[in-house]
This record gives sequence, C-alpha cells and structure tokens, in this order.
Amino acid sequence: MSPLETEHLAPDHAGVARAAALLNAGGLIAMPTETVYGLAADARNDLAVARIFEAKGRPRFNPLIVHVADAEAAKRYVIWSDLADQLAQAFWPGALTLVLPLRDDSGLSPLVTADLPTLAVRVPAHPLAHQLLARFDGPLAAPSANPSGKISPTTAEHVNAGLNGRIEGILDGGACPVGVESTILGLFDEPILLRPGGLPQEAIEACLGGPVKLHQSGDPLIAPGQMTSHYAPGATVRLNATDVAADELLLGFGKVDCALNLSEAGDLTEAAANLFHHLHALDAQGPRGIAVSPIPEVGLGRAINDRLRRAAAPR
Ligand code: TXA
Ligand code: MG
Repeated sequence: MSPLETEHLAPDHAGVARAAALLNAGGLIAMPTETVYGLAADARNDLAVARIFEAKGRPRFNPLIVHVADAEAAKRYVIWSDLADQLAQAFWPGALTLVLPLRDDSGLSPLVTADLPTLAVRVPAHPLAHQLLARFDGPLAAPSANPSGKISPTTAEHVNAGLNGRIEGILDGGACPVGVESTILGLFDEPILLRPGGLPQEAIEACLGGPVKLHQSGDPLIAPGQMTSHYAPGATVRLNATDVAADELLLGFGKVDCALNLSEAGDLTEAAANLFHHLHALDAQGPRGIAVSPIPEVGLGRAINDRLRRAAAPR
C-alpha cells in the first residue's frame, strides 16, 4: 500500500473540523485523550474500523474501545445498568472504560467488538477529544495509536514515529496528562478489574464501597488484549533494579542516580505521566538494556507496574 499523506492538525477549531471531516470520510485520526493518544475511526464504518487493525498490525481478535461524548450516548450501544450509572456519574469523563453487554441494535461494526457480546466504552476527559466527539457526532473506535505490541504514545511525535504514512491525520494536543491507558472494568455478574490504568483501583473501591475482584493471569482471557508481552521497547527491560549493569540505563523512581527519572519526588501521578515518554526516549538510545527502580504497588503504581511487567516479559 502506498503511504498516505498524514496531516498534522493544530489544536484549534479548524484542526478539529478537519479531523471530523476526515473521520466522516472513513479516515483514521490520532486524537489526544487524557490517558494516551487514540487511533480513531467511525465505529459504525466497517472499512474504517478494518483500517485501524491494518494500520496498527493489530490481531483481529482484539476488540476496540468505543469513545462517546457522554453516558447518554453510551446507552445507545450497551445495555445500561444502575451500577454503570453509579460509576459513570463518579468517573466520566475520565480514565475508566466500562465493559457492558452490547445492544443488538447498536449499529456498530462487528469488527469493533471482535464478535464478542460485550462492548468497552468510555467518555474521555481531554478537551480536544471532547470537541472532536461533539463535532463528529458519533461513536469513535480508538485503540492506542501505536503499532501493535509497541509502547503507547503520549505525544503527537510518538504517534508520528509509529504511524506516519498509515493514517490520515494527527490532532496535536501536546503531552497526555495521565500517561497510562484507562482502567478497564467489566460489569458482568459482578464488577471485575480487567486492566489497571489511569483511574486507581482504590478510587473504584471507594465508589463501590468494597473490594473489586481482579482478573488473574490464569483466568479465562476476558480482555483479549491483555497478552503478556506488550508495550515492548526494542531493549530488554529488568524490573525492581537496585543496581545497574554496564550495558544498562536506569529508569529511576525517587532519589536515585539514573539516566531518566520517572519522579524524583516519588510521586506516582508524575511517574505515570512520564512512563511511556521515558521508555520511548531510552529505547531511542540504542541497544542498551533498561533497568527500572522498584515502584510501589499502590494507586497508579499498579498501572505502571502492569505496563512494566509486560514490557519486561519474554517475547
Ligand atoms: O486509555 C485508553 O483506554 C486508550 C485511549 C485511546 O482511550 N485506549 C486503549 O485501547 O488503551 P487499546 O485498544 O490499546 O486497549 C483496549 C483494551 C484491549 O486490551 C482490549 O482487549 C480490551 O481493551 N477490550 C476492548 N473491548 C473489550 C471487551 N468487549 N471485553 C474485554 N476487553 C475489551
Ligand atoms: Mg494499546
């Protein structure tokens, strides 16, 4: 396939209007969200959705998250519930994806759900994503805007490095403030945490008034994208490092001597925002191993450690 001309769209009225027009014509647009950049297409358009899988090299069995403007819009595609309402009121717009039963009359491309009877939906909080959803006035299927299996993008430059020539446009919203993907919660017989992410588990538990069940690695694969090796930089990754070998660069956390620090102050929110940015930067420095300081397994630390474990997994 000959490369496309990827348009770089400014974060203004004209840029949003152009992005919406390209989406209406079946195009692929990288849009900023508060978590990471998403690769958006009209979720009702089979051909456009198929092109997402092609552009990313994503396996067809791995379903996509649909982004909508508000909870009212979500109700057109999923069978809503009181629990969904409670969580949406507490956390939307924001870094929470809910997996709910798909409505028969959703009108979405079956490629979006990879033929599952459920749909992952979320209302993003980023102002540009919001403006784009308002202007486009429809559901946007959007996985993270990186080649499949690679590090997720938190800047337009990351998107460009991975997907230039494969997509119609990039709406440049600068750096994504949260920096890790959304938390995915399945609302089946009981709520189950499918992926730790930008909304801390503790916040969900406070809202629900009790502990939430975690999806364990031996459980049946409910979120098909949760393959072990993922977010893989070119370099090897070693976790919980308290020393550094000669052929390694240290990705630090807290007061340590290192190549790049996720957060000198030991702040997990800051660390999440820096995570993919620093991994991209260290990866670009060539074939050195990446050693990573220990990160506490609380709050956003859970999402950070999840991504790092996948980055470190054998490929
Ligand atoms: O923050 C985010 O969630 C970003 C931004 C762009 O919204 N999106 C994102 O999408 O991370 P993606 O495709 O990289 O990850 C979506 C995950 C995958 O692991 C996929 O398997 C899972 O969501 N998923 C999608 N639909 C599902 C469903 N019906 N049931 C279970 N898991 C589902
Ligand atoms: Mg992804």
